[in-house]
Amino acid sequence: MIEPDNLRYTKLALSRGAGAIPALGFGTLIPDPIATRNATKAALEAGFRALDTAERYRTEKEVGEAMVEVFKAGKIKREDVFVATKLWNTNHRPERVKPAFEASLKKLQLDYLDLYLIHTPFAFQPGDEQDPRDANGNVSYDRGVKLLDTWRALEELVDEGKCKAIGLSDIGLEGVKEIFEAATIKPAVVHVESHPYLPEWELLDYCRKNGIVLQAFAALGHSSEPNLLADPVITGIANRVGKTAAQVVLAWAIQRGTALLTTTKTPSRIKENFDVSGIPEDAMREINEGIKLRIRLNSVVKTGVPGFIPREK
Ligand SMILES: NC(=O)c1ccc[n+]([C@@H]2O[C@H](COP(=O)([O-])OP(=O)(O)OC[C@H]3O[C@@H](n4cnc5c(N)ncnc54)[C@H](OP(=O)(O)O)[C@@H]3O)[C@@H](O)[C@H]2O)c1
Repeated sequence: MIEPDNLRYTKLALSRGAGAIPALGFGTLIPDPIATRNATKAALEAGFRALDTAERYRTEKEVGEAMVEVFKAGKIKREDVFVATKLWNTNHRPERVKPAFEASLKKLQLDYLDLYLIHTPFAFQPGDEQDPRDANGNVSYDRGVKLLDTWRALEELVDEGKCKAIGLSDIGLEGVKEIFEAATIKPAVVHVESHPYLPEWELLDYCRKNGIVLQAFAALGHSSEPNLLADPVITGIANRVGKTAAQVVLAWAIQRGTALLTTTKTPSRIKENFDVSGIPEDAMREINEGIKLRIRLNSVVKTGVPGFIPREK
């Protein structure tokens, strides 16, 4: 049985004095707006102090409403919570960045962001249609803008004091290197799919060496098959240490030095997922060496098309 410790309160320092990000974060990619609001509120009440949303999730309004309600209650203040959102692919043209950012802030009812991410390195045709397609149903990419141009527009937001840190999402190692090397303000966070079936060791190593925080999404494997939470290595450790499979996987992510995002609309799981404490070194080794399966669940990194958001038409 593992004794409670402070693992759940771990914070990772961000580059350029932009503060620190709580390792244990709550994602809000929840399709139902009422469930999003309720889950966000419950997550803050359970102890989560990092929230992740995105223009593309269409959950910023509900996340904003939940925060307002919680802040009004008085126990948690705005500055206690690390809030991140993301610029969508249709807003990569530099002149579209600030308006998109301001629109996100407004929906979130905030006057600054802790972290603004470029959601994917793929620019889509600019406009109000978030999923622009040609007559054959193929994505309409925008070849007229480079990722670095978009990055420069994010740097301006930091310079103007509107957000504390900026970062990249759904990008591979080579893409991160390219921006890192050219950037004036370096990426503070790289947000990618990662879990024991996709540990991304090489990317994590690069991030560590360059003072970047790797934030893992789908930290529990997104309820996909094969079910990470039913993996015999994970369930074996969970039984041995008296924790649930989810708690073991979340502890692994924090102990190897990443931040993470997990999501649930289920109240009991919100509490369970915050109730994380350390697992022994031999359990870490068992996960690192005993799990050989490698699976990417979300192909967004290859196309810019979100893998976990159903298409509307
Ligand atoms: N940048 C990107 O492209 C990108 C892509 C995907 C996600 N994200 C971000 O990362 C966040 C997390 O991703 P994710 O939703 O894939 O995370 P996840 O936590 O791996 O998967 C969520 C799923 O796991 C289930 N679950 C949660 N806690 C559980 C527990 N203790 N036991 C059993 N099942 C549990 C949830 O079920 P219930 O809800 O039914 O309880 C839900 O189906 C998202 O909300 C979003 O903010 C970013």
